Amino acid sequence: MKSDVFLKELETVKATVDDALNRALLRTEAPYETLLDAMQYSLVAGGKRIRAIICIKFCEALGGSLKDALPAACAIEMLHTYTLIHDDLPCMDDDNMRRGKPSNHIAFGESTAVLAGDALQAYAFETVLKSALPPEIVVKMAQILAENSGAHGVCGGQYLDLSSAGDQLTLVQILKIYSKKTSAMISAAAQMGVLAGGGTAAQALAAGRYAMSVGLAFQIKDDILDCIATEAKLGKPIGSDAENGKTTLMSRLGIAQCEELVEVETENALEVLDEHFEDAAFLKSLASYLAGRSC
Ligand code: IPE
Ligand code: IPE
Ligand code: MG
Ligand code: MG
Ligand code: MG
Repeated sequence: MKSDVFLKELETVKATVDDALNRALLRTEAPYETLLDAMQYSLVAGGKRIRAIICIKFCEALGGSLKDALPAACAIEMLHTYTLIHDDLPCMDDDNMRRGKPSNHIAFGESTAVLAGDALQAYAFETVLKSALPPEIVVKMAQILAENSGAHGVCGGQYLDLSSAGDQLTLVQILKIYSKKTSAMISAAAQMGVLAGGGTAAQALAAGRYAMSVGLAFQIKDDILDCIATEAKLGKPIGSDAENGKTTLMSRLGIAQCEELVEVETENALEVLDEHFEDAAFLKSLASYLAGRSC
């Protein structure tokens, strides 16, 4: 896909997602209004929205509409935002900046941040379950979201990431952590998109494989940027991994080999698409764009 066409489309889809997320939370003057403020604070704080975009574009690659994918796309961003709020807590990565603003616990206090994360996770499931798609599709979506966010998905990955801090990990161990803490959510986004677009089981599997590779490349890039970018550019602190004694592929292999791996995983992602999707031009451009990102 031509670069200017891709970038324009990326901007358009992102704006649609941002708009839907802005309107997603019902505001109320309830006594727990501050909790809703905390949820809204992190949810609309920015963010690249790549998981939502992947969900929508897999749906569209199968001839589905944006409208069909939007609830799942918003849900994945709600769930992802919860993982970021918790990831920044003092008992986790202890980072005080996220999406260019003070982290949720800095702005609202720790207990409110924990609850804002919890509530966003629940709201993610509520959002999927309220989708207007046929109930059998909606149930499958909720199942995919649950499987990839629970103990065998993000939570398991975050557990391994935190419990192994300070350890010398093998490359296989590091990749296992990445596949859970990062690829799992991207895979859920892709598979929910295929479901929304009425795709087959084989297409869902292929989307999951694309997402697994994109996710690995994405996390390796995140680790590189944690070493070489600036806080102003990333909107989150740099040097967090080293400070917390995390063994990353970057700390094990250095930048040149990591950049090479990003390329390899991106190539892997591209290969999966042609066989299973008629119009995957945007998803291909997206994988390449993410490999080249600098923030
Ligand atoms: C950050 O994800 C956490 C990782 C898995 C590396 P993103 O880089 O997608 O964060 P936002 O959503 O754009 O803020
Ligand atoms: C991904 O890893 C964390 C999540 C699954 C939320 P990081 O801890 O490296 O993410 P950042 O760098 O804080 O965004
Ligand atoms: Mg972390
Ligand atoms: Mg972190
Ligand atoms: Mg990081």
